[in-house]
Amino acid sequence: MDKAYLKLIEGNRRFALSKKFDDPEFFKKLSLGQKPEYLWIGCSDSRVPANEVTNTESGEMFVHRNIANVVVHTDFNLMSVVEYAVNVLEVKHIIVCGHYGCGGVRAAMGTSTFGLVDNWLRNIKDVYFKHRLELDNIEDTDKRADRLTELNVIEQVRNLAKTKIVQGAWHGGKKIEIHGWVYGLNNGLITELNVLHDETDDIEPIYRYKMDK
Ligand code: CO
Repeated sequence: MDKAYLKLIEGNRRFALSKKFDDPEFFKKLSLGQKPEYLWIGCSDSRVPANEVTNTESGEMFVHRNIANVVVHTDFNLMSVVEYAVNVLEVKHIIVCGHYGCGGVRAAMGTSTFGLVDNWLRNIKDVYFKHRLELDNIEDTDKRADRLTELNVIEQVRNLAKTKIVQGAWHGGKKIEIHGWVYGLNNGLITELNVLHDETDDIEPIYRYKMDK
């Protein structure tokens, strides 16, 4: 029987011990509640762990991850996370973080099928189609995938700004900024894309909801 999973339990014991060693009150404080300032929407890829790559602690970041960090308005899982983060936790920053070398983005560029995920990745095919003139001109496949990764993040930032949740928060005076980042698997560094979105950065009228009050 494969006992490889036991290393996770052992790892957990070491984690708990070392945290308690550094700060005996660490878990007691965390158990009182959370007040994270950040919502992280990232890729499920095992190489992009949200806390680890940002050097943040337990309690600092509310996290949602899915394949290729896509924001879909009919995804009740993601939308529940966003609404709770914005309205209850009152996060100040929402970060969409993609990563170079993303298998999901690469799959969306191709025609192979992988199962249910094909339907999910259709959203990224739409991003490709929207920017096909730029993308088709990039001959190198890796570079084209990198650019699509960036464009996908930008699109998902816009998708967040198109939600009534975020628009309502802005309308109510909450200062929420939405950031688009890309993480480099090969150097561990995050690049900020030029797509910071806040209430001063209007989206097209068709996506703007009328607010009651
Ligand atoms: Co990925």
